[in-house]
Amino acid sequence: MTKETEYHVPVLLRESVDALSVKPNGTYFDLTFGGGGHSREILFRLGDGGRLFGFDQDADAERNIPQSDARFTFVRSNFRHLARWARFYDATGADGILADLGVSSHHLDDATRGFSFRFDSPLDMRMNTSGGQTAADILNTYSEEDLTRIFRTYGELQNARRLAATVVKGRTNAPLLTASDLTRLTTPLMPRAREKKETAKLFQALRIEVNGEMDALAEMLNAAAKVLRPGGRLVVITYHSLEDRMVKNVMRSGNMEGHVEQDFFGRTTSPFRPVTGRPLIPNAAEQALNPRSRSAKLRVAERTEAV
Ligand SMILES: C[S@@+](CC[C@H](N)C(=O)[O-])C[C@H]1O[C@@H](n2cnc3c(N)ncnc32)[C@H](O)[C@@H]1O
Repeated sequence: MTKETEYHVPVLLRESVDALSVKPNGTYFDLTFGGGGHSREILFRLGDGGRLFGFDQDADAERNIPQSDARFTFVRSNFRHLARWARFYDATGADGILADLGVSSHHLDDATRGFSFRFDSPLDMRMNTSGGQTAADILNTYSEEDLTRIFRTYGELQNARRLAATVVKGRTNAPLLTASDLTRLTTPLMPRAREKKETAKLFQALRIEVNGEMDALAEMLNAAAKVLRPGGRLVVITYHSLEDRMVKNVMRSGNMEGHVEQDFFGRTTSPFRPVTGRPLIPNAAEQALNPRSRSAKLRVAERTEAV
């Protein structure tokens, strides 16, 4: 393993970069740089006149920046600010945007970051550690209703209400600060046979809330329509049904609800046209080699002429 693949093994690498249909002199955005696996493949296909902007909000990703490649620019930012950065770098009218959503293996494997219940680490879960609330802040201050909503919506947990009530009751004795403070309360409520899976969903729900992932995704999809040239490609890899639904709807219709609207002449006004009907999923070999890839779905759209 190289140091970058130790950081993260890229998912659907060939399929996603093929979907970008890289032009040697094109301008591309990899909005989720991470270990840089997708970026390296894009750079491999780009010629000397091409440009690639790699975004990541986590400072740790900077260690994977390709050395001395003038075609590459790292942008340490949340991808929700895509349109602003594209203007700053004079990179609107781009040929392709790739986003491989969620956390990296590095996040899940780092015992200090709080993303995984495999370690008894502080409940942090921020991808950008320079500000914002941690998972502990949320667990110790949110109302029972808000915790229920998060567990139900982002974790799709059947017993969201009971879990939230247990957290609220449990935190009156002492604040929940570490992963084991939380799992000590919640494990007895999880169905025995699915204990690990359900706890992973609970942690996923908190992580999505901590990082404002659904809002950032919505803003980024909106910005992508402004940054791509007509014919440019938007390629997104999702890992849970909520984000997949949002991506699918926006690619169909340009809005979160998936309502396809038409103008006076009956033409679809969506800024995107889906290139693939069904999402692409990793083949059996990839799923066997990389368990993280099992929930991945790849969706591709093309920017239309619509304004
Ligand atoms: C699934 S990993 C991407 C892995 C990468 N494609 C590779 O091959 O190594 C997602 C990365 O995107 C970053 N990320 C997630 N959401 C982000 C956002 N809203 N803005 C910027 N970076 C984000 C995470 O910090 C993480 O490093």
